[in-house]
Formats: sequence, structure tokens, C-alpha cells
Amino acid sequence: MGDITNLEPVAERVSRLRLGYSYARCRLAEPGEVPTLEEARKIIDKLYESGVPFFTKALIQDMWDQIKRDPAPGDKILTKDITGAVAEFEVETGRVRPWRVDGTEMEYVLKELVLSYQCRACLRSDVIRRYYPSQHWEPCSIKLMHRVQEWDSKTEKNIPWPGPMDREVVARTFQDKAQEWNESPACEKLKRILSSSAKNHEIDKVVGFALGTMSSQYFIEDGSLRTEDGWRSGSQHALLVTIVEWLKERDDKQKVLCYSQDPAYTEVDEKILKEAGIEVIEDPRGWLEVDEHSIVVSISPNVPAKEIITDIARPAVVIWYRVEFHDGLDTGLTDPDSSRSRAMMEGYELHEFGPDKEMFSDIVLYIRKSVAAPTPSSDGRFS
Ligand SMILES: C[S@@+](CC[C@H](N)C(=O)[O-])C[C@H]1O[C@@H](n2cnc3c(N)ncnc32)[C@H](O)[C@@H]1O
Repeated sequence: MGDITNLEPVAERVSRLRLGYSYARCRLAEPGEVPTLEEARKIIDKLYESGVPFFTKALIQDMWDQIKRDPAPGDKILTKDITGAVAEFEVETGRVRPWRVDGTEMEYVLKELVLSYQCRACLRSDVIRRYYPSQHWEPCSIKLMHRVQEWDSKTEKNIPWPGPMDREVVARTFQDKAQEWNESPACEKLKRILSSSAKNHEIDKVVGFALGTMSSQYFIEDGSLRTEDGWRSGSQHALLVTIVEWLKERDDKQKVLCYSQDPAYTEVDEKILKEAGIEVIEDPRGWLEVDEHSIVVSISPNVPAKEIITDIARPAVVIWYRVEFHDGLDTGLTDPDSSRSRAMMEGYELHEFGPDKEMFSDIVLYIRKSVAAPTPSSDGRFS
């Protein structure tokens, strides 16, 4: 197995940097034989089809615990790849690296570590994209990335991004979008379906994933600020509030736990959502909160939410993109369907509630057929 130093091609690094993240370097603790490209894909498929969980709460918790300890540059974060081999991520917080964009030399600095989730389709594409012909292979379903920021060596300072939008402006957008949603036939239909088909499910928590930021603004090519992405986010959070209100009424409760996880949230989102009864939580706590007594809402995530949830829980209710009959292999989809998510959905009843596709995409409601919470086997699997 070859040495792993600075593997990523520049073009790839640049596109990731625009997203604000850079993968931490990784190597196997005990490098062995490197499989051929074809063999590597077969190993992934075989493990996936045999039911080996790619995501477990224990794995997520363990990696979170390690990065929360604030590791120093040069430290190693240990994990296991899907084959069970021990892999090490190198901590490089604070390091400054060169960055070339369209022929211009720039620099970026590596900030804190975050988790990056690789579904089966991502692992398969990575076999070609990242690992070959570099001659190393450690298929980790959870990798680590450093958040990155543009750096100015002359002043030794970060180059800041535009801050969040004004709180009043965001609050008004959220209000308008909530009103639009609350007055829509889809909102009424959603409550009606929940009242008839989820009336006996024991539910104590609502968890949102990837519902977006209502307040971020960023520069676009002509130099102006782009702000309208918050509209979809406003509508989607309004849907989350509707579910909480429905649950409060059903159970005659003053308060229902409602968490939402999206790394894009700003302090403005956090304040506005808190006023609406939604607690913003950091990644990866959302996954750890989801269980058989939860309602999960995930819309258009840049993270394989379906594959993660499918491996770790059987929530009472799920709202996400309609699960379809193809696996999204080689499509680059960030939240593809898979044989596992299709198998999970066999235990659920699909309900259409017709939300506006422009604001919500093609989301549908799934309610678990069994009112009683299923129990996982000792290795955490639901089969
Ligand atoms: C394409 S945007 C969709 C936003 C919004 N739901 C919409 O439909 O417009 C994808 C979202 O996934 C979020 N995301 C990425 N990684 C995530 C994670 N680990 N947990 C939760 N959300 C995540 C991104 O921050 C981003 O807001």
C-alpha cells in the first residue's frame, strides 16, 4: 500500500473548499494488500447486501467523542472502515494550505473537524474518484473533514464570509412562509392523516434534518448577495412546527421536544427557531436522538439521511423524498435510495399529502405499520 500524502487533485479540492470543507488525511493503521478496483466495489456490495450496518449509533458517538476532545495537530482519530480494518485520520487543525482558483494563488486554514457520511453509493464512486490510482483503500462510512476558511498570510487572519441576514428580515420571511404553509390544503391534509393513521403511535420527539438556513447570504458570480434560498427553509421549518403543534394537541402537552440539525444554521436561525419551539442541535446529535418514538423530517439533504436512519432506527413517522426503485449508484445523489431503505419502507404506509413541490420537492409521509415499537437485534439491526 502506497504512502498517503496530499492525494486530492487540485480541482476536487477547490470544489470542496467552496463548500467550506476539506477531507482529513486518512490511512490504514496496518496497510495490507490493495484490492483491484473491481474487487473493491464487490467488497462494498457484498457487505451492503449481507446487511452489515454501515452506520451505527456507537460508531457515530465514538467519532463524535474523539473530535469533541479537541485533538491537537498531529493527533490521530481512530475508527474502523466497513471491512473492520482500523483507519487513522490525521488532525491538522490550524494548518495553512495553498489553494489555486482559476490560476490565482490563495490560501486556506483548516478549522475544526466534522463528520462526513459516506453511503454505499458514495463509497463505490470514491473507489474510482479518490483512491485509485493512489493505491490505498480504507472504505470508511464516516470520514472526517476540517471546516476550512480562506486565509490571508500577510495579515495572518481569516478572510470572513458574509454574515447572516438581519434577524427582522429573516423573521418576516419565516412568518410569511409559515402563513402560506398553514393556509395550504397540504397542511390540513398532513394533520388529518397523522390524526387518523398515527393516533396510537407512542411519539415523544420530532427531529428535523437538513431543512436549510433561512438567514445565510453569499456572494454570487456578479458580486451581488444571494438570499432567496431561505424561502424553502422557512416553509420546511413551518411544517416542522405544524407537527409539533399536532403532537401537543394529540397528547395534551404544553411542550414537545423538537430538534433540528443542519450545519448551515447561523445564530439568527437558532434564535428564530428557538422562539418557534425548535432547538438547533449540532451534527451528529440528531442521528443519536432518532429512535422508534420519533418523527423524522428530512428534505433534500446533502447527507445520506435515508441510509443512516435506515441503519440505526425505525421511527414512528418519517417525512422524506419518496423512496424509489433505483439505487442512485453512479448518480452523485447525496441521499440515494437503496435496497435497505426500500426494505425499511415495507414496514411503513405511504401517504400523499401534496405539498408545493417548489418549496418541499417530492416529499411524502410514511407511517410505521406496527404501532408497537420494533426492537433491534443485539447488533442494532432491524430486519
Ligand atoms: C440542498 S440543501 C437543502 C436545504 C433545504 N432542505 C431545501 O430543500 O432547500 C442541503 C442541506 O443539507 C444540509 N446538511 C449537510 N450535512 C448535514 C448533516 N450532517 N446534517 C444535517 N444537515 C446537513 C446542508 O447544510 C444543507 O442545508
